[in-house]
Amino acid sequence: MKSVYLLPLLLVLVQGNSETEKEWWETTIFYQIYPRSFMDSDGDGIGDLNGITSKLEYLKEIGVGATWLSPMFSSPMYDFGYDIADFYDVHHEYGTMEDFERLIAKANELDIKIILDLVPNHGSNESEWFDKALQGDEKYYDYFVWEDGVVDENGDMQPPNNWLSVFRKSAWEYREEVGKYYLHQFVIGQPDFNYRNPDVVEEMKNVIRFWFDKGVAGFRIDAIAHLFEVDKEDFGGKYPDEPISGNNLDDPLNYGYLNHIYTTDQQETYDMVYQWRDVYEEYKAKDDFSRVMMVEIYASPQKTMKYFGEGDRIGAHMPFNFALISDVNGESTAAEIKYAVDKFLTFKPLDKLANWVTGNHDNNRVASRYSPKIVDGMNMLVLLLPGVAVTYMGEEIGMVDGYVSWEDTVDPSGCNTDDPINYWQASRDPERTPFQWSSEKNAGFSTADKTWLPVAEGYENLNVEVQRDVERSHLNVYKALAQLRSEPAFRYGRYESVALNGDVFAFRRWYNGENYVILVNFRDESYTIDLSYFENVNGELEVVLTSIQSPKNNGDMLNASAVEIVGSESFVVKVKA
Ligand code: NOJ
Ligand code: MG
Repeated sequence: MKSVYLLPLLLVLVQGNSETEKEWWETTIFYQIYPRSFMDSDGDGIGDLNGITSKLEYLKEIGVGATWLSPMFSSPMYDFGYDIADFYDVHHEYGTMEDFERLIAKANELDIKIILDLVPNHGSNESEWFDKALQGDEKYYDYFVWEDGVVDENGDMQPPNNWLSVFRKSAWEYREEVGKYYLHQFVIGQPDFNYRNPDVVEEMKNVIRFWFDKGVAGFRIDAIAHLFEVDKEDFGGKYPDEPISGNNLDDPLNYGYLNHIYTTDQQETYDMVYQWRDVYEEYKAKDDFSRVMMVEIYASPQKTMKYFGEGDRIGAHMPFNFALISDVNGESTAAEIKYAVDKFLTFKPLDKLANWVTGNHDNNRVASRYSPKIVDGMNMLVLLLPGVAVTYMGEEIGMVDGYVSWEDTVDPSGCNTDDPINYWQASRDPERTPFQWSSEKNAGFSTADKTWLPVAEGYENLNVEVQRDVERSHLNVYKALAQLRSEPAFRYGRYESVALNGDVFAFRRWYNGENYVILVNFRDESYTIDLSYFENVNGELEVVLTSIQSPKNNGDMLNASAVEIVGSESFVVKVKA
């Protein structure tokens, strides 16, 4: 009898210690490529698939095992590919389906997984589906969300209600062909799909199947919070106004002006994610390969965790953890950093993994949001905290936001401000400037005379080629971090952290007698620190990795009770047993 009771305990112990149980996606580094800006193979100033294929070896070189590509599907590019006209085809500026197949083949050779961006919330107003809807084809008319306008006291037609686009102004656009408004939570070119229509649900599952059949290893899922709107039948057949939030009172057309209780975070949205996971499991049952699902969610931790699953339903592998983007910046104290880091770890279910993200194509670069001096420190957090690491292309070399003038601004989020002075605060062009490969023309990104966005200033000294040849460079720190990350302490080890003072954040990872401490100084002050605060950290410490500003060398020995840290320095030490 007794052994029956012991069995579950034993299983827990075995699982906790097993070094073979991890799946590929749990230990790899995901690298986000924005195809338009990574590498241009044909000299038109726009990145493309063949460009990516030609640089896959670079991913291997830096220790990356998977890449998620922002959309490369055919699109009129009103939101640079997030307005998809054909979910089953490649955008012509990026190449052909054959190019995509070659990309997959090369990636397979190098054992790099390719993840695509699934944009389920909306399509394009220049798609066959939308055209058919306008022509009165019932099937496709029901793919979108239509509503009657309201006639005001002057007899003029106004949008159905006060709903706003994420990119400012009304979320409704009138179409004469059908005499109604359609909903677009993003730009006018991105009509929202109607997820209360089972045909749409099935179509999107078929999109997932189509690309799985092409060999992709998963999806990053876009704008998930916006998938469902309330059912208007619950509101007397009319979509209700959203309440005023109390924010952005000076600009009622700004998305932040309203509280989006009817257009985001609906319960049905979580269920759809679980349904997609069922499609994943369909595939896994066939070939025993786990494809990964990452969801883009900027929400409270409670809502974010629901994407993992609820009850007996399973959902995403990775709801993105944006705490290091949304909650902290270069002004934050070490305590605030600790609070942000601990948030996801605190709320996540015990059997799920955290993930770490400091940048993407929608947010300013780490060097600009924090400081160029903190680049290595932030990469240490991303690669050595417990869980999955995600790097936006260029963060490994510490790229900075590029300057893009009002005239050159193309991002709808910038353009829709109608403000030639302050547009840059909303524009996402600065973090999308071309990748900096070398000191050559256009940073080696393209041979064109003009690239789609200008190359950031200073690329002559800040690029892959230069950093490869300098021993102390962000690139080489990143490579060493990728190596270190595969040590058992970082793969399986436990975690504790502390704000040692207002400026210095430290965390410890340990497993089976291996014991590491990582220190990041967020300010220019120097300190002498007593690390014996941490249990089992005393005596001699060996320096194993340093930021480029560090005066220390690998192999230096430090005394745990008096560790010197200079301004903006970060480093990793290993405790000598
Ligand atoms: C989130 C994407 O990351 C962003 O670039 C895009 O504009 C919106 N979703 C709409 O698809
Ligand atoms: Mg090109």
